[in-house]
Amino acid sequence: MVVAIDGPAGAGKSTVARAVARELGFTYLDSGAMYRAVGLAVLERGGSASEVARGIEIRIGDRVLVDGRDVTETIRTPEVAEAASRVATNQKVRAALVEKQRALLAEGNWVAEGRDIGTVVAPDAALKVFLTASPEERARRRAAELGADLRTVMRDQALRDEQDRSREHSPLRPAADAVELDTTGESVERVTGRVVELVRARAEPRQP
Ligand code: CDP
Repeated sequence: MVVAIDGPAGAGKSTVARAVARELGFTYLDSGAMYRAVGLAVLERGGSASEVARGIEIRIGDRVLVDGRDVTETIRTPEVAEAASRVATNQKVRAALVEKQRALLAEGNWVAEGRDIGTVVAPDAALKVFLTASPEERARRRAAELGADLRTVMRDQALRDEQDRSREHSPLRPAADAVELDTTGESVERVTGRVVELVRARAEPRQP
């Protein structure tokens, strides 16, 4: 089964998705790492984003490998985040990555995290969660994570939110049947517990 966790940057998706996967013994899929890998490759190599997306081999697991090179840390910079958001507006890039994601999700139990998992990648997911938090809280979390200046993070975040929400293809939005959870002021443990509860409720057959 697939558990889809979507939402904007800094809403707590990665932390919560990892924790839920660990607790349930599911495999975690960070779809954003794929867009980041393509963003990095375009920054480094230039050329057409769609050709780069089709031409590179991305391996996602504990480490992220692009054509065999470990880019786990390199893809986390603000420059690569911005490049990822830019390449993510390209429909051909999206098609190439969605195909890779669907191939992975076809078998086994997954917690998949991104922007379009519930709407496009896995519309039949057993559970869809849309995580949000106030822009201030999201920026505070991201600044702490990166050790970066809060105002710069706020500015970059607003730009990327706008780009992700207003793009023509697969814009960031909750699926019609997603459970929306606002994580503002909530601990990771509480949000994780809530998602695990929701998964268990969906997985258990209803009593007659
Ligand atoms: O970690 P953060 O939430 O900041 O970003 P990410 O999940 O690593 O994704 C980086 C960028 O990739 C996002 O800003 C989106 O533009 C894009 N993305 C997407 O379009 N669809 C996805 N399923 C995942 C990421």
